[in-house]
Amino acid sequence: MQDMVIHECFPEVDEEDLEQLLKAYLRIWNSPENLRFLSFTGLPFEASGVSAWFSSRINEGVHYYAASIGGALGGIAVVRMDRIRGVELLGIGVEPERKGQGVGTALIEHVVSVARDQGFRALEALVFADNVTMLRLLLSLSFIPVDMEHHRRPDGADLLRMQRMV
Ligand SMILES: CC(C)(COP(=O)(O)OP(=O)(O)OC[C@H]1O[C@@H](n2cnc3c(N)ncnc32)[C@H](O)[C@@H]1OP(=O)(O)O)[C@@H](O)C(=O)NCCC(=O)NCCS
Repeated sequence: MQDMVIHECFPEVDEEDLEQLLKAYLRIWNSPENLRFLSFTGLPFEASGVSAWFSSRINEGVHYYAASIGGALGGIAVVRMDRIRGVELLGIGVEPERKGQGVGTALIEHVVSVARDQGFRALEALVFADNVTMLRLLLSLSFIPVDMEHHRRPDGADLLRMQRMV
């Protein structure tokens, strides 16, 4: 694989970041094989709603990290870092044709290292109980299940809260 670079995007202040991130986010989040693992309702994400989040969530400590491979954006991680609520991986998605090449692992390891540098002690991630790939990935990166919410998706799927120390 070509060299992968992980960088933070600033869609709330940088027009170019907003355009690139929005396009990739909608493509990745709405791809049919990804949507059921990324949406609580099953409804697709719309450009107007997503760009409104991008410009407003900075105040909630939300950060966006993108993995670029050969200049093309291959995956995105959305993270909330809050000194009171802690660090939570709000979403992570990889382009379907880039899966299984280490992009997801690299994004999560990057988030772990940023959280550690900021002085946080733990990182949390929510994952639907039927998301085998993400669960395997999290378990292999030392996350453990700490809580479960039942029937969080319209088809009844439960949601696991996973956590690891950083
Ligand atoms: C879950 C997700 C983010 C994982 O991303 P990914 O880039 O495919 O993950 P990785 O490649 O790092 O690891 C996944 C698998 O590929 C393997 N892998 C890692 N590097 C690899 C490489 N260079 N070559 C081949 N396989 C590799 C890993 O060992 C892992 O295999 P496993 O089945 O044994 O666990 C991605 O599948 C995705 O976008 N899913 C849909 C959205 C989603 O579910 N998001 C999470 C919501 S909580």
